[in-house]
Amino acid sequence: MIRVALIPGDGIGPEVVDEARRVLEAVATAGLAELVFGEFPHGADHYLSTGETLSDETFSVLRDDYDAILLGAVGDPRVPAGRHARDILLGLRFRLDLFINFRPAKLRAPRLSPLRNAGDTAIDFVIFRENTEGMYTGAGGRLRQGTPQEVAVSESIATRFGVERIVRAAFDYAKVSGRGRVTLGDKANAVPHVYGLWRDVFTEVAAEYPGIESEMRYVDALAMELVRSPGRFEVIVTENLLGDILSDLSAELTGGMGVAPSANVNPAGGALYEPVHGSAPDLVGKGVANPMAAILSAALLLRDGGATDAAKRVEEAVDAALAEHIGTPDIGGTATTTEVGEWIAAQIA
Ligand code: NAI
Ligand code: MG
Repeated sequence: MIRVALIPGDGIGPEVVDEARRVLEAVATAGLAELVFGEFPHGADHYLSTGETLSDETFSVLRDDYDAILLGAVGDPRVPAGRHARDILLGLRFRLDLFINFRPAKLRAPRLSPLRNAGDTAIDFVIFRENTEGMYTGAGGRLRQGTPQEVAVSESIATRFGVERIVRAAFDYAKVSGRGRVTLGDKANAVPHVYGLWRDVFTEVAAEYPGIESEMRYVDALAMELVRSPGRFEVIVTENLLGDILSDLSAELTGGMGVAPSANVNPAGGALYEPVHGSAPDLVGKGVANPMAAILSAALLLRDGGATDAAKRVEEAVDAALAEHIGTPDIGGTATTTEVGEWIAAQIA
């Protein structure tokens, strides 16, 4: 049994999570997995009406009573600086120590790629983004704020422990999934301390995996190469901020925000699945949000939860929808969010 905590969140989050849930319920009805759900109201409305972003009590429930969290998105124009979003999303990533941000970039239908005319449409790689260090820890500060003498510092944190575990996770995944190469993305030429550590650790860990090719790329050149020949990449491992940027680029190469799923995982326990996209305030209530990213995130949840066949069925149902041109306007379709969810759920039933 997989105990799933649903946090629909803000903006289009609830719209896409409704469809992911519909698909998961179809999976359960078809007997492909045993699932129980709990729903959490956390997000901007909840914060504005109760003052709670994510309390210690809620955190304990999520940690102790659930196997996985499925999150829509958090972020609302009414909450300045995304305070609640930081507490909820970064809070869960940090407090559950979800150090792997797993972001697959798979082109499921060649027509979805902006590079479709360039010929390289066999895109299928995975980004392992370090999820607990880098520039996202909040280390730093602002001095003399608002004055002409203002100083701002955001420190980038890299620990040998933190780098080693994500690099190892990338190589282990390459080994288990039969992928032959791991690429490190960094900027060791300009930022020698943090990325020097990354290169040292990457080189050491790579030596333990003789069957897997390894290579190191400066991130700017890597971004260029991802556009020029995305098909050559298999596994990319990189630091938090660089991974955030590269994964949006990769999402766009494979059909955009509407189809890009992700997982935040600690293999020792704890997992949060979410579409790569945000709350898209521009789309709310119009029925045009693409639920496929959330549905594919639910497939990652099923796979990690041991329901491999169920995960495969969900991915095949999404592929079938794409093949039949069932989709929302962002991928050239005319269906609504609900119609796409219902179609995919019906495939599974
Ligand atoms: P966004 O991902 O919400 O939107 C970027 C663009 O992609 C927009 O043009 C949007 O219409 C489109 N888009 C996003 N999801 C889509 C979907 N499912 N179907 C079709 N089109 C889709 O990013 P943006 O605009 O930078 O941020 C909006 C809010 O979301 C902000 O408050 C931001 O902080 C938050 N955010 C939250 C994230 C999370 O919860 N993981 C991640 C990124 C942003
Ligand atoms: Mg991002």
